[in-house]
Formats: sequence, structure tokens, C-alpha cells
Amino acid sequence: MTSTDRPWWRDAVVYQIYPRSFADANNDGTGDVQGMVERLDYLQSLGVNAVWVSPWYPSPMADGGYDVADYCDISPMFGTLDDADAFLACAHERGIRVLIDLVPNHCANTHPAFRAALSAGPGSPERSLFHFRDGSGPDGAEPPTNWGSLFGGSAWERVVGPDGPEQWYLHMFAPEQPDWNWANPAVAEFFDDVIRFWFDRGVDGLRVDVADGLAKDMDYPDTPIDPETGLGQATFYPGHPWWNRPELDAIQRHWRDIADSYAERGLGERIFVCESNVKPLDALMRFVEPGRMHTTFNFDMLWCEWEAGSLRAMIDRNLVAHAAIGAPTTWVLGNHDCTRVVTRYGKPETGKPFTLAGTPPEWLHRFAEYFYPLPTDAALGRRRARAAALLEFALPGPAYIYQGEELGLPEVEDLPDEVRDDPSFFRTNGRIAGRDGCRVPLPWSGTRSPYGFGVDAEPWLPQPAAWADLSVAAQDGDPDSTLSLYRHALAIRSAHPALGDGTLAWSDEVPGHVLYFTREPGFGCLVNLSAEPVPLPGGAQVLIASGPLEDGLVPTDTAVWLDLP
Ligand code: GLC
Repeated sequence: MTSTDRPWWRDAVVYQIYPRSFADANNDGTGDVQGMVERLDYLQSLGVNAVWVSPWYPSPMADGGYDVADYCDISPMFGTLDDADAFLACAHERGIRVLIDLVPNHCANTHPAFRAALSAGPGSPERSLFHFRDGSGPDGAEPPTNWGSLFGGSAWERVVGPDGPEQWYLHMFAPEQPDWNWANPAVAEFFDDVIRFWFDRGVDGLRVDVADGLAKDMDYPDTPIDPETGLGQATFYPGHPWWNRPELDAIQRHWRDIADSYAERGLGERIFVCESNVKPLDALMRFVEPGRMHTTFNFDMLWCEWEAGSLRAMIDRNLVAHAAIGAPTTWVLGNHDCTRVVTRYGKPETGKPFTLAGTPPEWLHRFAEYFYPLPTDAALGRRRARAAALLEFALPGPAYIYQGEELGLPEVEDLPDEVRDDPSFFRTNGRIAGRDGCRVPLPWSGTRSPYGFGVDAEPWLPQPAAWADLSVAAQDGDPDSTLSLYRHALAIRSAHPALGDGTLAWSDEVPGHVLYFTREPGFGCLVNLSAEPVPLPGGAQVLIASGPLEDGLVPTDTAVWLDLP
């Protein structure tokens, strides 16, 4: 099958927009939809095929918009539904597809349905849309189960009504994010309407937030106690009462039917990409079985250390598993939840998703493998991140870019505590830095903040003084900039018949600690992860390199794309 016969989403390069931090057209310090419209030419010149827009819905912003107060409107912070329609139309005019976030696991505690549930009282149909339970212990003063929240503390919050404390409700994330009860068919019907609302408006696909957590074990069993938190284990294990339950199969097949009905009516394809951390890989592959979801993020690349053996094993494992099921593998180097790739690869140890702000709390020792130590060598990290981008775009299947990756932005690791906004920072008493450092507004132009993000309003998170050199304008005409590398690589990727979805073959022709694979017709990708420069394969011509070659050799932490004889 040639790239032109394949569905677009099997090859796509998708750019993630985090609206709050992308572009601030009305100069109030917060990004907005109009800013997104104005920067579509930029995205077109970058060469992406689609965007994924993180939540743009009305929200009290307890979790950066992943606490949705109205699923069928746009936050006044970001604009109006008319602005969203304009964005869709302008993106489509430029051949850019639009995916938006669907947040079906939980809403905001200000959502009308949750408010109604609070006032309706125990046993009401309104409460059955959520997980309300009586507490345990004397007077129900203890949470119904030992479940722990992913943001720290108990996953249950007690309702305090006019007559004092009463039932508890479940929140896998912040207390401001009550979980919907997917065992109630009314919840599924509500989301059918939400999905159709956006598909009818022309949205091309949905990124499903926490796609693996919707269904809960309605017997509410305690989970094994995590000795360090004293709470039930919140992370995945087989048989966990909320991760990857069998009920997801029917939910996803139903959504797929809705999406397919658009193509069947000649209205174009509608697709899903799941956010799921389900392990092992075989379990995750169930999500992309025929009749279920189109794609699911492959976070393995994001978690993988910068080491040839680990990368090769990770790539193979994913390609084999996806090919067996007929789904394309998505590749991801970063998103709004993780330490930026430049910073991750600049650490003494690579392969961890988060940064620690200070002394790890006792219970975090258990999770030490997820957290980076300081310091960061940003130049080393950027060099590796540039090589990783060429690797990512050369692999078979769709690739995601998190806004700012194309500028080589680092994580902002020194945000003062008073500007931080992430609930994971507050709910761990500031011991986990949280995700604000990767959400700092983008630098577009100029020599000081707000760097063209807005006109002169102070951005909602402060931008570093050193970002002048990293702005779009500063990198625009510089052939050696990271932005130019991305533009050039994406242009080659879209034109080259070997790239996009398909297969690869490893080659051992180049000795050393390298990744070298070929793709038909006539394409090679070589990444040098050894300490010494390595030679090019015989007869190869360089199409693009992530850094300068040295006497015809490929230096350490450098990737090249090759035209092969
Ligand atoms: C997803 C989002 C993250 C959010 C969480 C809860 O993991 O990517 O930003 O905090 O869901 O909605």
C-alpha cells in the first residue's frame, strides 16, 4: 500500500497545542483560540498534518482544563464556539486535521450534573451519575475504600452538606475532578452526544484522556496497601479495580461505531487516539484491535533511556505488537505531562518522565525510577533531542510533537513556587515539581518576555530570560536551528515514499553502539549513540543530519537520514 492509499492517520505528524500556552491574541497573559488561528500559517510551514488541542472547554482550571465544566462550549478564557469553528475551518483550508481532547473519566466539580448530584442527596438518580458512597468506620468518617488518588492523598472526598458531613465521592485525580460512573448508561449516552457534537462540527478526531480508567469495579474492593503511602495502590496491576477493566471493550467499540458512521455517510473519517499507560503491551494492544480504537499513544519512547540497545528493543517490541494487530504505532517524545525532552536527555540518567522539585517525600522512594535528579546539561540534551526527532520521524507510523519541541525548548526547572499551578505540586506539598515547567508559554519573537506570546501582558507562567534565542523569529532563517531541522525533516518525510507507516529493517553494517535501519525504497536512518564517531554506510548520501558531520563521520548523539543506492 502506498502512502497515498493509506488513511491519513496512519502516517500523520500531529502537533499538540496546549491552548493556554500557545499564543495570546487578546493580550491577557493566557493563550486563546484566536491566537491558534493566527498561528496556523506557522503550523502549515512546519509541515504538520494535524493538531491535537488540549482541553479548551469552560473549566475552573483546577487541573489545567482537564476539569471540564461544559463539554460543548469553549472557555471564555480561550474564546467562543465561533472562534473554535473559525479555527476548524482555517485549519482545514490548510489541510490540517483537528483532534481535540475528550475527558470522559471525570468532569469539574462545577459541572451542572455534579452540582445537581450534590444537592439531590444520597440514593438519587443524579448521584448515580458519579461514584457516591457512604463512608466506612464510625459515622462513615473514613473513606469507603483505601483507594489513593494519582495526584496524592485519598481518592475519596467527603461531601459536607447543609446538615454536616455525609457521603463521599470518588476522584482518581484532584478532588475538583469527580469521576463519572460509566456503569450508568446515562453517562454513556451523555458522552455519545458530546462526541457527536464535535464530530458534527468537523473535528476529525478525539484524544481520549485516561482512556484506560473509565470503568470501575462496582464492588469497590480495597486494593493492596502501598506500605509507603498507607493508601491503596493507584498504579496499574492486573485486576486493578479501575485500570483496564473488561467493560472498556464495549465502550470503545460503541465509540468506534459512532466514528465509522461519519465515513459511511461520506462525511470523512473520524478517529480516536487513546491516552493509556496499560501494561503489559499485549493488554494495551487490545485497545487497537479491529473495531476498537484507531490508535493509542505509545509512551515507551518517552520513557526509554537514550541508549541504543534499549531504544532498539523498545522500537521492535512496539512494531511487532502493533503489526500483529494491524494498528500503526504512534511515537511520542513529550507532552504537557512530562519533563521536556531536551531536559530529559540532558540529565545524568535518561529515561524518566518527571522532575523532582526538592527532597523526595519518603513514599516517593518507591517511585524513584520515575524522577530525575538535577542538574541538566541543556546543550547535550538538545543535541540528543534533535537526533531523537529524526529517529521519531523516520519510524513507521504517526508521530506527535508537543508544542515547543520544534524550538528545542527545555523544561523550565526553576519556576518559583508561587507561580506554580499544578495540583500534583500542591497535593504533594511541593515535593513533586509537577508539570508547569513544560507548560511555559511559547516564545514567538522579540528579545524579552512575553516574546510575542502576547503584546505586553505578563504570561500566566514566567518565561526564562534566555528564551530570546529560542523564539520562532530567532530560529526562522537560521539553517542550523532546531526549527529548521524540524521543517526540513517533515518536508522530506511527507515527500519520501519510504516514510510514514510501513516497516523497517535493521542493519548491522555500521559497527558500534548505533541504531541503523533501512526502509524501502532507498532510505536509511542512522543514529550514533556511541562515544566515538561512526562512518556512513557505503554509497549513502546524506539527506539531512541532526548536527554537523565531522570529516564525513557521524558524531556522537547525531542522527542522519540517508539516500541509499
Ligand atoms: C491526563 C492528562 C493530564 C491530566 C489527567 C487527569 O493524564 O494528560 O494532564 O492531569 O489526565 O485529567
